[in-house]
Amino acid sequence: MTGCAIEIVEKRFPAVAGAPARTVLGEIVLDLPADQFVAVTGPSGCGKTTLLNIVAGLDLDWRGRLELPRRPDGSVSLAYMFQTPRLLPWRTVAENLALVRPRGIADPAGWIRRRLAAVGLDEGVAAVYPGRLSQGMSRRVALARALAVEPDLLLMDEPFASLDGAAAGQLRALVARLWRERPMTVVLVTHDLREALGLADRIVLLGGAPARVLADRANPLPFNRRCDDDAVEPALRALAGRFARELNEPQTGGHHEDHDQDGGHLEGGRCGDFRSAAGADGHGGVGGGRPCHPRQAAARTDIRHQER
Ligand SMILES: Nc1ncnc2c1ncn2[C@@H]1O[C@H](COP(=O)(O)OP(=O)(O)O)[C@@H](O)[C@H]1O
Ligand SMILES: [Mg+2]
Repeated sequence: MTGCAIEIVEKRFPAVAGAPARTVLGEIVLDLPADQFVAVTGPSGCGKTTLLNIVAGLDLDWRGRLELPRRPDGSVSLAYMFQTPRLLPWRTVAENLALVRPRGIADPAGWIRRRLAAVGLDEGVAAVYPGRLSQGMSRRVALARALAVEPDLLLMDEPFASLDGAAAGQLRALVARLWRERPMTVVLVTHDLREALGLADRIVLLGGAPARVLADRANPLPFNRRCDDDAVEPALRALAGRFARELNEPQTGGHHEDHDQDGGHLEGGRCGDFRSAAGADGHGGVGGGRPCHPRQAAARTDIRHQER
């Protein structure tokens, strides 16, 4: 399996209805090795979704080059979990999943059952319409639909953002486990640095106008400490401080090189051992969706509203 190479020169939205044209993305060069889990973060409106849309092939109007992971037969398998689940409301859960069912499956109902089970849903959910599902269940169905194509590249746009802490923590843990069981390249857009530290091998900060890569860091936490609050808290403070400085620094024209991916922290297995926010102590760890020092950490580590 090959990795993914993104080389954006420029993404410009044309003037529409009185709004002037705007260059949203400047030079963005990212090499994503096969099976790497990358978190992309940055202030709201900086162009993260635009970047995912480009990688997904939904936006073809940009300058640059894109190389997607290819299988030996040259095919590409990519899935995109949008910011909202985007299930078709007039179709049941089973009918939504059936849209992505591979041809020639001998036991379609069994296939649906297995897809649901993989994301922790029982088969009773199959006959339900999306409008009757909780937010967390809708997300799980969206995840099941994304994984049904057995992607080599999974794009996720703030997939946990609208969930309460418990549901978000459970879903993060699920994503971590599924990735460990079946590795794939993941690009997760998130504004939550705690989430990024809990899940990703590598954390990329976008910012500026037009946006470019302001920082590109290996997760400083070895895999087995990503659930350990004693390790997470200082790493989180350091990362948040550093990213805040990057965002507030006057931007120079060139590409700010901050690659430290050879720093030795990318080895060592994968995390899947999140504590659930619904667990015994009611607190989330890294993946629990709830900081240990909620006010303090939430203010520092959510970079949505950092200045651009
Ligand atoms: N179709 C569009 N036409 C014009 N501007 C757009 C369009 N889509 C997004 N934008 C603008 O591009 C910028 C980046 O948007 P987006 O990628 O959604 O940001 P993010 O996901 O980082 O919050 C925003 O200012 C947004 O208003
Ligand atoms: Mg977005």
